Amino acid sequence: MKNTKINILILGGGGREHALAWKISKSDRCQQLFIAPGNAGTRLHGTNVFLHLSDVESIRALVLKEDIKMVIVGPEEPLVNGIVDFFESDNALSHVLMVGPSAKGAQLEGSKAFAKIFMAEQSIPTAAYKSFTPETLDEGLSFLSKNEGPYVLKADGLAAGKGVVILTDAEEAKVELTAMLGGKFGAASSCVVIEQFLDGIEFSVFVLTDGVKYVLFPEAKDYKKVGEGNVGLNTGGMGAISPVPFFDTLMIQKVTSRIIEPTLKGLQKNNIPYKGFIFFGLISVADEPFVIEYNCRLGDPETEAIIPRLTSDIVSLFYDLHEQKLGENPIDIDPRFAATTMLVSGGYPGDYESNLPITLPDEVTESFVFHAGTGLDDLGGIVTKGGRVLAITSLDAEKKKAEEKSRLLADKIYFKNKYYRKDIGFDL
Ligand code: AMP
Ligand code: GLY
Repeated sequence: MKNTKINILILGGGGREHALAWKISKSDRCQQLFIAPGNAGTRLHGTNVFLHLSDVESIRALVLKEDIKMVIVGPEEPLVNGIVDFFESDNALSHVLMVGPSAKGAQLEGSKAFAKIFMAEQSIPTAAYKSFTPETLDEGLSFLSKNEGPYVLKADGLAAGKGVVILTDAEEAKVELTAMLGGKFGAASSCVVIEQFLDGIEFSVFVLTDGVKYVLFPEAKDYKKVGEGNVGLNTGGMGAISPVPFFDTLMIQKVTSRIIEPTLKGLQKNNIPYKGFIFFGLISVADEPFVIEYNCRLGDPETEAIIPRLTSDIVSLFYDLHEQKLGENPIDIDPRFAATTMLVSGGYPGDYESNLPITLPDEVTESFVFHAGTGLDDLGGIVTKGGRVLAITSLDAEKKKAEEKSRLLADKIYFKNKYYRKDIGFDL
């Protein structure tokens, strides 16, 4: 089966999907690649098909028309909404190899309350917590009065990366809790988890798993705050570094035995099928790892940093996933550092202008330019289409040099109001 070439579909249209498209298109096992909806960068590696990810009937029609045999689901929303279950329950689609978990598995990301109960059952280290609903608002308010800050308030459901609020003042936290339970994030905040604040350094660990076997992908550290020195508002991610120097043998051992393996055992115990990536959002507190969150997909911009370091054929790994062979073939990783710098629209993560023309250097040899929020205008010119616009990744044996190459290229790319952090990697 491995020797036949197949048609493959990637769902999504950000920097993560461009990095995956670049990688998958190089595979000997890939015949034709489709990306839906894709962006101005993904079209260089395959065919973009415009559709909404919630439109499963159009996805179904595309898969049947183009004889697609493998689908990689980039973002969390379709997974949480059950796209994998939809494929499995449809006779015409059930043969398609899906990379992404069932809706049940995606609950690890889709419900913070579910994830907390799951971790408690498996004794996985995570912040102490309590959850509250509109019916228990008064209890929540007195919980905040009785405990010291900082207060970490998390909307239970998906809130486009905005559902976590950290406050130091108890009165402000009470106002926020009331607003969240009052529907600030819609149904996503009809349940709110209040967590112990963990003070440490965050990093992201990724496994590809069939729910039993797994392979460890390269780890990364992302930079979520908009401002240099990690200040200001949270964003989807302003850059990433891989590898993470403190993810050493001892830390790998701790993360594997205390977090990764108990997570897989928990999935098995609860009969949760899971064939896809698990992204462990971790924090090291005095050299001890804790789980901040689970995600049921790869990270963005972490993917733009880790995929260029993966030398193994990724489509073969996806076959291994479906043939219960993960871990049988070694996974090859480029030991060099990858430094990813995100170019964003001025104003992001607040309001920003879109459809601004982008000028790219004619030839880029030293780095990768992964498109995130880009599209084409009527004349075929590349324009901005989102807050996060382009991810620049450079590799070098020296971390500082990789960072510098990305900065230099970021400087040579032009669009109005372009902004990027010049300090990605400063704290490692
Ligand atoms: P999440 O969406 O759960 O990843 O949370 C977003 C960000 O909030 C994380 O990347 C952390 O920076 C921060 N955060 C979440 N939970 C905690 C916690 N318990 N202690 C400290 N910071 C946290
Ligand atoms: N970079 C964090 C995320 O993808 O959720």
